[in-house]
Amino acid sequence: MEPPIPADVSPMAADKSRQFIHRRLSAIHWRGSAVPGLFLAIAAMVGGCAGAEVAVDAERGRKVFIEREQGHCTRCHAVPGAPEAGNLGPPLHGVGARLTPAEIRVRVADITQVNPDAAMPAFRKVEGLHRVAPAYANKMLLSESQLDDVVAYLATLK
Ligand code: HEC
Repeated sequence: MEPPIPADVSPMAADKSRQFIHRRLSAIHWRGSAVPGLFLAIAAMVGGCAGAEVAVDAERGRKVFIEREQGHCTRCHAVPGAPEAGNLGPPLHGVGARLTPAEIRVRVADITQVNPDAAMPAFRKVEGLHRVAPAYANKMLLSESQLDDVVAYLATLK
């Protein structure tokens, strides 16, 4: 039996585990030897990891915001409880009261839609960018689910 899948597995990992579980399930089914308890446990795991793919999570969004290998938004923005932050961007204390989640989303995905001259990277855009380091060419800086999570996090800053 596989160990439970942690809630923060990346969507790709979750997908792999799901394929694995599906294969196991169909193998069990095929042999006609499904043990009800085992079946329920596996079904719960499948449900759990499907949830990990869709559920938006503000706490995970906070990590996206802070962690260097993710959004690393603290490079430019201060937020409550993040001691080391840059100040090229405005502090985002209270941003959840100033802007709606949709307004926050546009700004994180592609700030140029609001201010073409903004010194903030467009985190969900690959076309029409200038001076992109080769390693980042044609890569979104954030995945769609990282964007969902970071918007959910910022919306909590009231
Ligand atoms: C290189 C510096 C830089 C980085 C990195 C950066 N930002 Fe920004 N951000 C800015 C600047 C500068 C502005 C102000 C844009 C303007 O003048 O319109 C801004 C504006 C914003 C705003 C709008 C704030 C408001 O009150 O209108 C949000 C929300 C935001 N950033 C979120 C993020 C998130 C989330 C990340 C990480 C995924 C991020 N930023 C990464 C520089 C940055």
